[in-house]
Amino acid sequence: MVIFPSVSLQVKSGAAYSLARVGEVIGALRALKALDVDPSTGRLFTYIYETGLEELREVTRRAFELFLDTNALDPTVFRSAMALEREVVGFAKSLVGAGEEVVGTATYGGTESIMLAVKAARWAYRRRAGAASVGEVLLPVTGHPSIRKAAHYLDMRAVDVPVDPETKKVDVEALKERVSGRTALIVVSAPNFPYGTIDPVRDVAEYAADKGVPVHVDACLGGYVLPFMRELGEPVPPFGFEVEGVSSLSMDVHKYGYAPKGVSVLLFRTGEYKEGTIYVDLGWPGYPFINTTVLSSRSVAPLAAAWAVAKYLGREGYLELTRRLLEARARILRGLGELGFESVAPVESPLLALTLPSEEELFKFYANMALRGWVMGLQPRVEGVAPYNVHLTLSPIHERVAGEFLGDAREALESPPPPELEQALKALEAGPLEAASMIGRGPLDSILIAKLLESIPPGEAEDLARKLVVEVFRV
Ligand SMILES: Cc1ncc(COP(=O)(O)O)c(C=O)c1O
Repeated sequence: MVIFPSVSLQVKSGAAYSLARVGEVIGALRALKALDVDPSTGRLFTYIYETGLEELREVTRRAFELFLDTNALDPTVFRSAMALEREVVGFAKSLVGAGEEVVGTATYGGTESIMLAVKAARWAYRRRAGAASVGEVLLPVTGHPSIRKAAHYLDMRAVDVPVDPETKKVDVEALKERVSGRTALIVVSAPNFPYGTIDPVRDVAEYAADKGVPVHVDACLGGYVLPFMRELGEPVPPFGFEVEGVSSLSMDVHKYGYAPKGVSVLLFRTGEYKEGTIYVDLGWPGYPFINTTVLSSRSVAPLAAAWAVAKYLGREGYLELTRRLLEARARILRGLGELGFESVAPVESPLLALTLPSEEELFKFYANMALRGWVMGLQPRVEGVAPYNVHLTLSPIHERVAGEFLGDAREALESPPPPELEQALKALEAGPLEAASMIGRGPLDSILIAKLLESIPPGEAEDLARKLVVEVFRV
């Protein structure tokens, strides 16, 4: 039986459903996985939050496997789903100053949490302003694109607010100028992804409360780490429900909560506010349709794994991992500082944005490091805000590899630019679509993408990106 028509997915052996075929299939998958960076090496500085704890990996894997055949769609059938959700949400609440009245929802990720936070605000806004009113969502330019995406999906208008060029935090006065009767929601970050800075949640929330506008705190990154940093003596400003005027808050368990991908928590100040996110259809001929999330059928496995991770680590475990994270940050900041790097923003979280006085040197550094297997982010120059910079989302495992990283960093700066860098830049001469078709083939992709975006007139990059997905990658 040919299950998959594609050649590369065809299995070779004849015997259907035999154990030999299991090995064959998994072997083929392993070959594909070899294309990826392995986060357990500590060489990855973005997207994955690696503890380096073997036992935690085992707990996660076994929890995931145990809940493989589940569906959170109907918690009256899969009763564990609600129990797990309540406990995962309860733990999240205990970290961000949430009282009894705060309720929550476990979602599949930060984007889904933010989508629902925007939906709650739209629900409240439309009750006030009329069913078809187009409300505005105010966000700092450093706010995650999922906020703009949510506004786009929900037929709302996203309004950018500048950040202070020095602090990289939302400019509160500029924000106030943009608040009007059309404002449905203000979003702030704790912290933002590009620079790792924490917006002045209290200043914004106080003003918003006065104007009757809800505030969402995007603590997708900070929810599971800032509270532990504070406990360890770091100066973390209040950003949770202890701040009056905070209406909702998202915190991703699959980031610094160290759960596998597929879990975030969205908290609401009141049950009434949460009601705006619940989609109900009891009129159709099938099962009672009551969805608290965007997704409907979904595996309980990530939630079970998130529960298991929190249970295994406990507060002490999270504290210890945060200690390692801060140690990694201190060593890397010191070491790179000695090599001439500077932070483009105040350092307030485990997310770093670092630059060098010379753009060429920065690209050479990035390229040489990439060729040595270190995967960092490369962030663009933003007029009046920041020069080109490398982004490091630190994880506890980086404490273990900091020495090796810094040794390679020194070498990367002392070595000449690699020929691969010149090749990547040369690819741009062939035109945007041709250059774009080179993406996905090597460690210098980020440089190619950054330079490509720089070379395209504003407004055309989005069309090119769509073309790339459909015509070049042909997925
Ligand atoms: C600050 C912030 N908010 C939201 C998100 C969206 O999270 P997800 O990728 O889980 O949808 C991210 C992702 O990096 C983020 O950094």
